[in-house]
Amino acid sequence: MATNRTFTMIKPDAFGDGKSGAIIKMIEEAGFKIIAAKVTKLTKERAGQFYAVHKERPFYSSLCEYMSSGPIMAIILEKENAVADFRKLIGATNPADAAEGTIRKLYAKSMEANAVHGSDSDENAAIEGNFYFSKTEEF
Ligand code: CMP
Repeated sequence: MATNRTFTMIKPDAFGDGKSGAIIKMIEEAGFKIIAAKVTKLTKERAGQFYAVHKERPFYSSLCEYMSSGPIMAIILEKENAVADFRKLIGATNPADAAEGTIRKLYAKSMEANAVHGSDSDENAAIEGNFYFSKTEEF
């Protein structure tokens, strides 16, 4: 059953370039409510844990290096049909394929430095949100 939450990170490229305000504005204007948010910095090891599902992929080491290269913002979002609607809002993983008006089309620099992460399923949204936040932190 679809839940109404998803999880996102504003990645080091977009956060470091001061784009988090503009990105959050787009997210809120699309109808998402912020449930929890924090700025943090991953170690390479912790980035590896977050992206463990990709550990056999050739880009895994580079992705972990990049994701630990600077601060990120981790956010739990709420909206009806959150996972699918958020993926539509952010656009394709490769910014070259991202639709006009999407967050990645506007702010991503490359496949790796693609501005934002978005959960790909309700199950992963819950796992990823729990990676950063304990339930008592949400309100
Ligand atoms: P994200 O949505 O955070 O999920 C996994 C990330 O791996 C993805 O965004 C990209 O940043 C990165 N990624 C996926 N495919 C590739 C690829 N072919 N080359 C480099 N990075 C990739």
